Amino acid sequence: MSIHIAAQEGQIAEVVLFPGDPLRAQYIAETFLENVTRYNTVRNMFGFTGTYKGVPVSVQGSGMGIPSAMIYAEELYQSYGVKTIIRIGTAGGMKESVKVRDIVFGQGATTDSSCLTNIFNGQVSFAALADFKVLDTAYHLAAEKLPKENIHVGNILSSDRFYNEEMDKGKLARYGVLAVEMEAAGLYAVAAKHNRQALAMCTISDHLITGEETTAEERQTTFTQMMEVALGTAYALQSK
Ligand code: HPA
Repeated sequence: MSIHIAAQEGQIAEVVLFPGDPLRAQYIAETFLENVTRYNTVRNMFGFTGTYKGVPVSVQGSGMGIPSAMIYAEELYQSYGVKTIIRIGTAGGMKESVKVRDIVFGQGATTDSSCLTNIFNGQVSFAALADFKVLDTAYHLAAEKLPKENIHVGNILSSDRFYNEEMDKGKLARYGVLAVEMEAAGLYAVAAKHNRQALAMCTISDHLITGEETTAEERQTTFTQMMEVALGTAYALQSK
């Protein structure tokens, strides 16, 4: 038991998929996993464990934003011995070469969040990074499924505010920032604190600069491709 996750020790797998929406977690568990049990209903932030090709995998809702995601990541690593958390989400495209429906891997996550500033007492701007082995595994699985031009690896922005008119997104895009979401930097910081692994992968749902959008059907197709990559990664990490 931890404060926000009411699971028993051993009920959560070593690899956890981490969508923002708890109903998305339920959909993933019901659609892609076998032998599913629900280990958490606290605050309706559902968590499930099942098997994928015989290997245990958990799916835990993170909620929206860095503060929420950091709570769940901290408890997963600290109280349940989780080794790897893979965020699966959507992001808004920023760099023009990134198109809607593409997959973006956050090799690093830039942020305006005081959560990261405060960890280091404002002394440094911490470079929040994905685990290279997890990234490498996921990237190669994605490259088997999608054309290379639809896969991007690099810097993403983990913004504290969804509605943020003040952020100079054009400048960030010129500095190579691929896309904006709201959790990765917090996840990477907690993983670093516990010397564990994390990766954030996102499908591009809309484009902030070009205004391009996806239909619900297109979103579902790309989401399924990303799920296959995430689950394939979870499988590969545990069967090596
Ligand atoms: N901002 C933050 N997070 C997002 C966005 C966005 O525009 N689109 C999808 N996730």
